Amino acid sequence: MEITATESKNVLLIQGVEKIFNEGKRNEVNVLKGIDFQMKPGDFFALMGPSGSGKSTLLNIVGGLLEYTKGNVKINNTEIYDLDDNDLTEMRSKNIGWIFQSFGLIDNLTALENIIIPLNLAGVYDLEAENRAHELLNLVGLGDRADHFPDGLSGGQQQRVAIARALANDPVILFADEPTGNLDTTTGLEIIALFKELSKMGKAILMVTHDVSLAHASNQVFILHDGKVKMELEEITSI
Ligand SMILES: Nc1ncnc2c1ncn2[C@@H]1O[C@H](COP(=O)(O)OP(=O)(O)O)[C@@H](O)[C@H]1O
Ligand SMILES: [Mg+2]
Repeated sequence: MEITATESKNVLLIQGVEKIFNEGKRNEVNVLKGIDFQMKPGDFFALMGPSGSGKSTLLNIVGGLLEYTKGNVKINNTEIYDLDDNDLTEMRSKNIGWIFQSFGLIDNLTALENIIIPLNLAGVYDLEAENRAHELLNLVGLGDRADHFPDGLSGGQQQRVAIARALANDPVILFADEPTGNLDTTTGLEIIALFKELSKMGKAILMVTHDVSLAHASNQVFILHDGKVKMELEEITSI
């Protein structure tokens, strides 16, 4: 298939995505009712919406973790749910970084070792993996914490390690589900500032947040409501 110029610029392209849980049953929920959305390198978007509106569902679908009921999701021009399980896993490992509210670090591994795991999974080992993990810790401002275990780090520092881990394989896109939900406001703002830096380096970042002030630090706020995404009309500048 020929790739058009407009298509190739998008790292993420979502068309007509619908999601129905428990289809045909009494507890059927139609969470997403036709989502169209696209992201280019360097886009930093915030996704807001009431609790239960489907933000995590949408993020999981675009991140290759949950198949839609209908639609298309393309990452780097590949329809991700056309891939078989192995190829989908490989695509995720190469192209996508995940950041969660609860950090998700492995407790009995050091900061450095936590970052080395996804590198090993992608076939990068030994000194090459160690050097890359050190570089990433420097990038997130934790160069002097390589040998610390998660419980010896503050919440903000743990989230920085998680961001470094998400960046391990140099993904094109980062998905962050309430990344500042367990952090105080000041620390949350520092994490957002780091996201802004990463977006300037060309990463596309889609972040779910409840916090209006954090959302407004992004380039564009989208609101999920009644199964549809609306672009916030207000012009978004910077922090
Ligand atoms: N695996 C599932 N099975 C059935 N319903 C689900 C499942 N996951 C989410 N839902 C429902 O989908 C809706 C959206 O959930 P979610 O995406 O977690 O919302 P948000 O992240 O915006 O709070 C909720 O009504 C939730 O109960
Ligand atoms: Mg959620």
